[in-house]
Amino acid sequence: MSRIPLIAGNWKMYKTEEQSEEYIQALLPRVSAIDGVEVAICVPFTDLRAMVDSARGSRVEVYAQNMHQEPEGAFTGEISAPMLSELDVRGVVLGHSERRALFGESDRALAAKVPSALAAGLVPILCVGETEQERDSDETDRKLRQQIREDLAGVPAERLADVVIAYEPIWAIGTGRVASAEQAQEAIAFIRALVGDRDRDAAERVRILYGGSVKPENAAELIALPDVDGALVGGASLEAESFAQIVAAAAA
Ligand code: PGA
Repeated sequence: MSRIPLIAGNWKMYKTEEQSEEYIQALLPRVSAIDGVEVAICVPFTDLRAMVDSARGSRVEVYAQNMHQEPEGAFTGEISAPMLSELDVRGVVLGHSERRALFGESDRALAAKVPSALAAGLVPILCVGETEQERDSDETDRKLRQQIREDLAGVPAERLADVVIAYEPIWAIGTGRVASAEQAQEAIAFIRALVGDRDRDAAERVRILYGGSVKPENAAELIALPDVDGALVGGASLEAESFAQIVAAAAA
């Protein structure tokens, strides 16, 4: 089973609309000739419309970084899945560790968000991963099992492969401390096996990304690992040139 790699850049809370326009004009020519890899940028809500317009017809897809689980309601400050899909946004990052740690995102909310994203035609990128303390106390598998089980509980077996999972060890995010190839492969193979407990065919098809200090220098080795189907890139996605180099590494 060959899975098409996905390289997704997570801008976090960076780039005004003007800055995002400069970026996309620099990115498009750099990735237009690179085949065999899907490219996504996950941008702030305020950049979505401009990026969808500027990327239309190109190989770059535009994702949001969060959404509410309800289609509408009295939820001041929130954005729903239908609001995103109406803009032609392709998908949405869900459960990023920054949202879990800083904004109280819970597995319970995620269990509702993932199916709502799918129902609105969005590709969810569900982020999971352990803290340094959990890794040091051999709790990595337990944490991943709990997150995968709870966050995907509302997704029927036949839709599991439509979810993208990102394994992001929290100690590797924004720290420059990338997981070793062995650590990344082991955790991602474990996640694939967890999906396989639900549905064997979905486990073969579901794409699982690695995230955490991915850079042009380490991308090729990580993406070449047998169970790793691409990368979720934070810091190194903020410059079009370094992001394009990571895209090229995934195609190689
Ligand atoms: P990083 O962030 O690449 O800057 O470590 C990854 C992420 O938060 O998705």
